Amino acid sequence: MTDDLSRRTLLSKMVAAIGGLIAAGFGVPAIAYVVAPASKDGLEDVWVPIGSTRQVEMGTPTLFKAQIDRTTGWVTQTEETGVYVLTDNGRDYLALSNVCTHLGCRVRWVEKEQSFFCPCHNGVFSKTGQVLDGPPPKPLESFDVRVEGEQLEVHWDV
Ligand code: FES
Repeated sequence: MTDDLSRRTLLSKMVAAIGGLIAAGFGVPAIAYVVAPASKDGLEDVWVPIGSTRQVEMGTPTLFKAQIDRTTGWVTQTEETGVYVLTDNGRDYLALSNVCTHLGCRVRWVEKEQSFFCPCHNGVFSKTGQVLDGPPPKPLESFDVRVEGEQLEVHWDV
């Protein structure tokens, strides 16, 4: 009787242990699959194509629109943002965000003044994005630029 009981006890514990291993084998990857995207911080390095080098007017900041897919967890949102590209020689490019560093309004290039102007609080930035006047606390954000063939691409953290 005692042998039967201990054998039954041992068998039931072995069955439970095997069942636990099988459940862990299927369950852990399934949970990881479901949870992993939500735990990502959404930051990823990407090169975003913005347009052709032929569109850049020599010596004048030229506005491009960039479409950026930002993924957070299971949700992907497409944002459109503006990038001013400047070159004086057709080889070296400077890319500047058109978002004012004060409160996020859009700056625009004013050819006559040779500066960027933010209409919200009269912020003024130089051609290279340095603060010249007004409340902006820091220069316009700049991005790394590369040229692939004739395609301009800016480096973006999404
Ligand atoms: S948001 Fe541009 S100066 Fe305030």
